[in-house]
Amino acid sequence: EIAEAVEALLADMSLEEKVGQMCQCQASNFSFGHAVESDPPEKLIAEGRAGSVLGAFDITRVFELQRIAVEQSPHGIPLLFHADVIHGSQTIFPIPLAWSSSWDMEAIQEACAIAAKEASASGTIFNHGPMIDITRDARWGRVSEGAGEDPFLGALIATAQVAGYQGASLHNEETLVACLKHFIAYGAAEAGRDYNSVDISEGTLRNVYLPPFKAALEAGAGSVMNAFNIYQGVPVAANMFILKELLRKELGFDGILISDYGSVDEIRIHGHAKDTKEAALKAVHATMDIEMVTRAFDHLPALVKEGKVSERQIDDAVRRILYVKYKTGIMDDPYRYIRPEKEIEYHFNEAHLQASLELARKSAVLLKNNGVLPLAKDTGKIALIGPFADSKDLLGPWQFSRYGHETVTLYEGLLEKGIPAERLLYAQGSGVNKAIDGGIEAAIMQAREADIVVLALGESSDMSGEAASRMDVIIPEAQQRLAEAVIAEGKPTVLVLTNGRPLVLDWYDRHVDAILETWFLGSQAGHAIADVLTGDYNPSGKLTMSFPARIGQVPVYYNSFNTGRPVTDTNGKDKFISKYLDGPNDPLYPFGYGLSYTTFDISDITLDRREMTADDTITVTVNVTNTGGVSGEETVQMYIQDCCGSIVRPVKELKGFRKVWLEPGESREVTFTIKVEQLTFWSPASGYAAEPGTFKVYIGSSSRDLSDGLEFELLDELNHNGEEL
Ligand code: IFM
Repeated sequence: EIAEAVEALLADMSLEEKVGQMCQCQASNFSFGHAVESDPPEKLIAEGRAGSVLGAFDITRVFELQRIAVEQSPHGIPLLFHADVIHGSQTIFPIPLAWSSSWDMEAIQEACAIAAKEASASGTIFNHGPMIDITRDARWGRVSEGAGEDPFLGALIATAQVAGYQGASLHNEETLVACLKHFIAYGAAEAGRDYNSVDISEGTLRNVYLPPFKAALEAGAGSVMNAFNIYQGVPVAANMFILKELLRKELGFDGILISDYGSVDEIRIHGHAKDTKEAALKAVHATMDIEMVTRAFDHLPALVKEGKVSERQIDDAVRRILYVKYKTGIMDDPYRYIRPEKEIEYHFNEAHLQASLELARKSAVLLKNNGVLPLAKDTGKIALIGPFADSKDLLGPWQFSRYGHETVTLYEGLLEKGIPAERLLYAQGSGVNKAIDGGIEAAIMQAREADIVVLALGESSDMSGEAASRMDVIIPEAQQRLAEAVIAEGKPTVLVLTNGRPLVLDWYDRHVDAILETWFLGSQAGHAIADVLTGDYNPSGKLTMSFPARIGQVPVYYNSFNTGRPVTDTNGKDKFISKYLDGPNDPLYPFGYGLSYTTFDISDITLDRREMTADDTITVTVNVTNTGGVSGEETVQMYIQDCCGSIVRPVKELKGFRKVWLEPGESREVTFTIKVEQLTFWSPASGYAAEPGTFKVYIGSSSRDLSDGLEFELLDELNHNGEEL
């Protein structure tokens, strides 16, 4: 039915009008990098020169622009309203790097569903998210928007996000079209510098960067955004292999492909097109459907007339766009998403704030604790010191909430826990990047008077996200000075971190008693942190990106290759091995790591068989015991190593995990199933295949704290379709 309607409309549209559907305008003058010299949105829309709008957050603005499209544009085709809804719309959830630390797929899905409900009530239909790039380099600011360094976990989280945003049907008014970004390998930007070159093998592309996209496409994501980078020398926006072969053909994607802001004309700036017109030509040949905001596609009618682009190519793109317009129901009712009554009901409501609070608690990661946490009920005076002690900058990058002023600060959170103001001493001590007059002196006074110090330090929200790469991923100098002065007072000290990326914390690890990583936890941040500090919530978060011991290690990630000269337990002093002269290879806090206020023991690991064919499964059984004094949750992790392959395989790869809640003294049996899919990878020799040979299974509480490997053999040589090679 939709197909027929699309064809009928398409047949009646002029070439110019079709191209108009492939162009996007912006609701405001904000620029993401390139000045756009174009007519105002009202004019573009009325003339049928824009089919979608970016960033019309305000419902009145959405209504105004939609009315122009419906009443004035040639066929009255309604607009799609796009926005970046990355970790919440009005109720802000933890940043994605934070929520990935929860390893809780249901909670992440719920957060996205709430974000979709809130955003769609204001007329936004199309999300520029989720961002599902694998991120291995802490210098890159966009690590805050992703789920970290692991393809397996990344694929699960990508799937959960698509399910949350899109729900069961895009026709439902409370959903958003999910746009997977950035296809592909944007996270591999050299030296962690945003928009920088990428030079990776096809094996790394397929085995590391592709799995989240593959999973999210299988989950039905309606859209994809290209990455800014080059792949094998060709900008992705023009890359026939990446977009046409891999995305469209191999992965079967027939949804809307949208260019990232400015990336069509950047084909020219990269040096792959002689002018903007040729850049537009190359993007369309690579099957780009919508150009985000910039106007290279204005050249398309001329390119068609010159015979360089066929009208069929244009029709294919417009067909994909119109299909989504019908699917979301706006062709029948252009105003169906504009629901002021739902804004009142949903935006920042109690239930949404509660969901944000719960996910925020689960996202905090306890990195160090020598026993000072949780704060004892009879703790005397607490000196709360630092630029994040009473700051509302706890929402993080990529949020456009109108409720920022209601963000709960840490100071407010502790007060609301019932800690009386006379026991809660406060000093800002320093700005985020700049010292403040008398700040350190005031902080020292408070520390002297207190029994325990809570230092709230970190990065402001504009220090991560897009175009926010850093060379030194450290707590800024001004705050370091403050920390040194306060710590010199000799009081027990807890460091509470607010930040959007892994930081180098070796000095703090040596000088403070406890470190709680709280990222940007969102609207309820202060309540969540206070719950964890006081022990009302026992921390359970596990890192999804490794924290470097020193900056020179970056990029450092757990699923690396072995090298021919690996460091072992016994050869650390040898010269000709793969190591640094001035520091360790291992990160300070590895992937999968995170402490609890209780302790867990993982024991009795058994495999029900030591040989398998592709039709078999192996069951791994382990026993987990809460050996501490309070109830808590452990995330038991299973890693597998493929010992020998047609291309070398990582030293270990996460292939399963189980979250277990245990009372003190309680034990539980946990099982994992190993299937041939978990052993499958891509190599130039075999394509996607599980290669026969020896594998090792490791079980533990982080990628570093693991059992000895238990071996099993895969017997048949099978490709991914289960056919003999
Ligand atoms: O969605 C973003 C993208 O991730 C980076 N450039 C700007 C876009 C705005 O929507």
